Amino acid sequence: MVLLADYRGREQSYVKHVFLERYLEALIFKTASVYRHIVYVDGFAGPWQSANELFKDTSFGIALNALRRAKETWKTKSRDVKMTAFLVEQDPKAYGKLATIQPQFHDIEIKTYNEDFISLVPTIVADIPRDAFAFFFIDPKGWGIPLLKLKPMLARQKSEVTFNFMFEFINRAASITDPDTVAGLNELMPYGDWRQRLTAAADADERKAILIDAFTKNLQQIGGYSYVVPTEILRPLTNRTLYCLFYATRHEIGLKEFRQCQTKALDAQASTRAALKVEYEVAGSGQQEMFTSLHDMGPNETAAEREAAKKAAEAAVLELAPKAPDHITYKQLWPMVLTKHAVRLTEVNAICTGLKKKNELIFLDWPPHAKAPKDGYRLQRPAQGAKLIIPPARRRS
Ligand SMILES: C[S@@+](CC[C@H](N)C(=O)[O-])C[C@H]1O[C@@H](n2cnc3c(N)ncnc32)[C@H](O)[C@@H]1O
Repeated sequence: MVLLADYRGREQSYVKHVFLERYLEALIFKTASVYRHIVYVDGFAGPWQSANELFKDTSFGIALNALRRAKETWKTKSRDVKMTAFLVEQDPKAYGKLATIQPQFHDIEIKTYNEDFISLVPTIVADIPRDAFAFFFIDPKGWGIPLLKLKPMLARQKSEVTFNFMFEFINRAASITDPDTVAGLNELMPYGDWRQRLTAAADADERKAILIDAFTKNLQQIGGYSYVVPTEILRPLTNRTLYCLFYATRHEIGLKEFRQCQTKALDAQASTRAALKVEYEVAGSGQQEMFTSLHDMGPNETAAEREAAKKAAEAAVLELAPKAPDHITYKQLWPMVLTKHAVRLTEVNAICTGLKKKNELIFLDWPPHAKAPKDGYRLQRPAQGAKLIIPPARRRS
C-alpha cells in the first residue's frame, strides 16, 4: 500500500499513486479472470524522487506488487496467470536503480530498457503476445510526446492506457508562439481546432475545458477507445490543476472501476490538501503538530463537487432516457452517464431507483422485489408529464 510518509513535498504524486494502485489492483485481478497473460508497460518508469527502498512509492513498484497479488490470488483458485512488465527509463542513473528490481519479483518476468520510450514503441508492441492483455502507463515529465508515434500501442486491441497529461506545462506552452513549441504541442494533439478555440476562451476555466476536451478527443481518435475520462490532480496548496490523468478503455467494466478508484483518489487528495494547509498554518503560528495525525481530519472538499456531479448525472439520466414508447437498456445508459460525470455506478443505480419511485422513469423489466436496476432492464420516461393527483378532500363535488 502506498504511504503518505514517502511523499513529503510531492503530495500530488501520492494522489496519482493512490489512483494507480487501486485501479491496477482491481483491473489486473478482473482481467486475469479472462486472460492468461497480463502485460504492464511503464514508458517513463523512473524511479523518480523515490523515498522507499523497495520502490513502493514508484509507479513500477505499485504495478509489480499489483501483478504479484493478482497472480497469487488466482493461484489459490488453481488458475495460473503469467505476468510480464516492460519498464523503460531513459536516464542512466535512474535506470541503474530500475535494473536492480528483478530479484525482488522472481514470479514476474521483467524486461527493463535504458532507452527513449517513443523510439521503443514498435519493439515493445511487437513483443507483447497477441493473446495478452496490456496495461500502458505513460507518465512523462513534460509534454513532448508525438501522439501519433504512440499509435501502434494506443490502438492495440486488448489494451488500455493511463496517460499523465502535464496540464500546467501544456497550458503555459499553448500561449507560446515560438515555432518549436507550437510544432511540439501540435504533435501532442494533432487533431481538432483546439488552437482556434483557445484564442476565443473567456477565462482560465474555459481554457482548461478546451485543452482537456482536445486531448480526450485525440486519445479517443488515435487509440480508437470507447471511453476516455480525465481526473484532475491539483497543486497541494492551491486550487490550480497541476496535471490530469486520462484513462482510456474499450470496456465499460474499466469505466466502472475507474470511477470507483477516482473517488478514492479524490478523497486522498482532499484529506492530504486539508492536512497540508493545517500544517502550514501551524508552522506559521510556531506550534508543532503531527502531520500524519491531521491527515484524516480535513474537511472533504470534494463533497460539494460530488453532490453537484450526482445532480448533473440525474439530469443526464432524464435526458438520455427516451420517452415511451421508445426505450433503451440500462447497459446502454449507465456508461454514457459515467463517461460524462464523475459518479460511481452504485450512485447511478440509486439515482435511477429514486426516479422510478417518483414515476419519472419507467423500467419495463423490473421484477417486483428488485432493489437496483440491472443491465438488461429496458427503461423510458413516461409519454406524458407526471399527472397531478388531487387529494379527494379537496375535490369539488
Ligand atoms: C514523471 S517521471 C516518472 C515517474 C514514475 N512514472 C512514477 O510515477 O513513479 C518521468 C521519468 O521519465 C524519464 N524519461 C524522460 N524522458 C524519457 C524518454 N523519452 N523515454 C523514457 N524515459 C524518459 C525521466 O528520466 C523520469 O525518470
